[in-house]
Amino acid sequence: MRVLGIETSCDETGVALYDTERGLLADALHSQVALHEAYGGVVPELASRDHVRRVLPLIRDVLDRADVALNDVDAIAYTKGPGLAGALLVGAGVASALGFALGKPVVGVHHLEGHLLSPLLADAAPAFPFVALLVSGGHTQWYDVRAVGDYVLLGDTQDDAAGEAFDKTAKLLGLPYPGGPAIAALAEGGDADAIALPRPMIDSPDLDMSFSGLKTAVLLRAREAASGGDPALLPDAVKADLAAAFQAAVVDVLVAKALRALDVSGRSSLVVAGGVGANRRLRAALVDALALRNARAFFPDPRYCTDNGAMIAMAGAQRLRHARRDYAFSVAPRWPLTETQQK
Ligand code: KG4
Ligand code: ZN
Repeated sequence: MRVLGIETSCDETGVALYDTERGLLADALHSQVALHEAYGGVVPELASRDHVRRVLPLIRDVLDRADVALNDVDAIAYTKGPGLAGALLVGAGVASALGFALGKPVVGVHHLEGHLLSPLLADAAPAFPFVALLVSGGHTQWYDVRAVGDYVLLGDTQDDAAGEAFDKTAKLLGLPYPGGPAIAALAEGGDADAIALPRPMIDSPDLDMSFSGLKTAVLLRAREAASGGDPALLPDAVKADLAAAFQAAVVDVLVAKALRALDVSGRSSLVVAGGVGANRRLRAALVDALALRNARAFFPDPRYCTDNGAMIAMAGAQRLRHARRDYAFSVAPRWPLTETQQK
């Protein structure tokens, strides 16, 4: 079965063709980062309009590169939610129209399920069951993943997501959006021990987390360093120390919680998915910490960590039994992953 996947939940238009026998045949992505940069965050209306512009050329490009005719696509998967309503509607509308025109089934996929299953795109894929850390701009959650569709939430952030904290810290330091890669790059030249920052909830006996206090602590340290002035104008060396200290605090908390998640679930594999999962320091720290426990960490290829069509095509392929041919479509801007069975 060849499944065409369409991702339009936020600020990336992603399209891919996945073959249930041969794996990923082709994928293409258009990032709207440059479009939203001037606003310091995603502008929903601009995002929707750009998806409209990009999605059909990307579909043509993917089919050309895979050398597959549109008629030879067996099913179409799209991101049904969660995400921006207008942006989701673009993918849902295009997928349903294509399905109707071709007489092929259409399946709406949960965006986080796409992230969570994205390590299955790799050659060395983890076997079920495993623990998953979903760490993105909107989510920081621990799941026990027993099988496709069988997800138990083990812990969540109580306020900001880790990626959101990266983005806000970057904004404070005058770095470009999105903040994660910018902070990570700046941190490479900094000293993580030069500035003391808290490790919120690291000792709490659960898998919950909190990153909003950490973001405020960086703000206070930055203002001190700037003697009350604008932290964005601090010398690069000081900004690098702040970035390194912030990144180290997030990594320390996530590593401690990862070990706890493996303990409470009894699993020996950890999957890390979502945009912050591209962070090199986080990856290295998790690999080291898990090696001491005889546990193993699995990461998607960094290009499949952030939003992409490949994970939607692949997750859609796992969900084909839910595919429909009625072509009426709806989106689910708010949709807990643990409720995927009901939609
Ligand atoms: O999964 P994603 O593309 O979008 C959703 O939020 O669903 O994740 C985007 C987030 C942003 O907050 C971005 O700053 C963060 O992932 N991010 C990173 C890195 N690359 C992206 N955070 C830390 N280090 C990175 N290398
Ligand atoms: Zn995402």
